[in-house]
Amino acid sequence: MSIVSTDISKAVQLLNNEELVAIPTETVYGLAGNIFSEKAVKAIFKTKQRPFFNPLIVHITSADKLDEIVRYVPEKAKLLAEAFWPGPLTLVLPKNNNIPKLITAGKDTVAVRVPNHPKTLELLNRLDFPLAAPSANPFGSISPTTAEHVEGYFKDHIKMVLDGGACQRGIESTIIGFENDEPTLYRLGSTSVEAIEEVIGAVEIKNKKDIAPDAPGMLDRHYAPQTKTILVDSISENISNHEGKRIGVLAYQDCIDDERITFQIVLSQSKSLLEAASKLYDALHQLDKQHLDIIIAERLPDVDLGKSINDRLQRATVR
Ligand code: TXA
Ligand code: MG
Repeated sequence: MSIVSTDISKAVQLLNNEELVAIPTETVYGLAGNIFSEKAVKAIFKTKQRPFFNPLIVHITSADKLDEIVRYVPEKAKLLAEAFWPGPLTLVLPKNNNIPKLITAGKDTVAVRVPNHPKTLELLNRLDFPLAAPSANPFGSISPTTAEHVEGYFKDHIKMVLDGGACQRGIESTIIGFENDEPTLYRLGSTSVEAIEEVIGAVEIKNKKDIAPDAPGMLDRHYAPQTKTILVDSISENISNHEGKRIGVLAYQDCIDDERITFQIVLSQSKSLLEAASKLYDALHQLDKQHLDIIIAERLPDVDLGKSINDRLQRATVR
């Protein structure tokens, strides 16, 4: 029997029983559990095979609930919450004492966001605890943007995926922390740096592996297909390097006319970065199923969401 269901009451019941439920958000599906249940939180780490040093994001219904989670909210964090919540922005703030150490990997900060998905907001409203939810994929693999992706990963491990359709934004939330009240970007994501800077001015970007201890999820290899993947500026110039192989192509706007290509996906014919982001992970999932020898991905323009997409493609190439 399929674990995919639209029954919110059943999700409420499972979560109240300290079980896990995969939930839809606007970014990617999350593997959710009660933040105050040690059993549920340990099951999240175990199911994902995620190392305990990698902290989880806490999901709440609105900024009004922030006081229950964090000790202190810098002025710029307030502005960001006002501008972007509910939405794909995660704030890393000093944690309250009641937030279990397991959630934060022992750090004294906690990552928190308000997801923008009607089903999950309704679910959160019917629970009397926030949900910890990392992306619902095994550690290091491609994040899920449909209920079926999650089912493919975890049908033998969890009882339910709450079906909320395909995720509209398609890549994870942008993560911002504060050092001496000044914002630092830990992870590029579905809220662009440009949009953030319009609200709070210049933001320092620490999205490289040298900050791994600060944002441990930013390990180099991440979001990665099983198939060897390369990222190039020009696909057509690269195809001859892989002659005789089963070649898959992930193009931004233009379909490449070349009979040596076995399987090809174009992310956005209308050249929309928003559309490209929403289709990125599903495209990688599809490409990974074609028994290809290599996936050649095209680098996108390095602006707005293009930066976030390029970041994910870059991590998909690390072996
Ligand atoms: O869009 C998203 O953010 C999705 C959906 C489900 O909400 N969640 C998600 O979670 O991407 P996850 O666990 O795959 O990534 C969480 C990231 C990790 O890179 C982790 O290191 C970082 O958040 N993080 C969590 N707590 C942190 C903290 N206290 N300080 C710095 N980074 C933190
Ligand atoms: Mg993840």
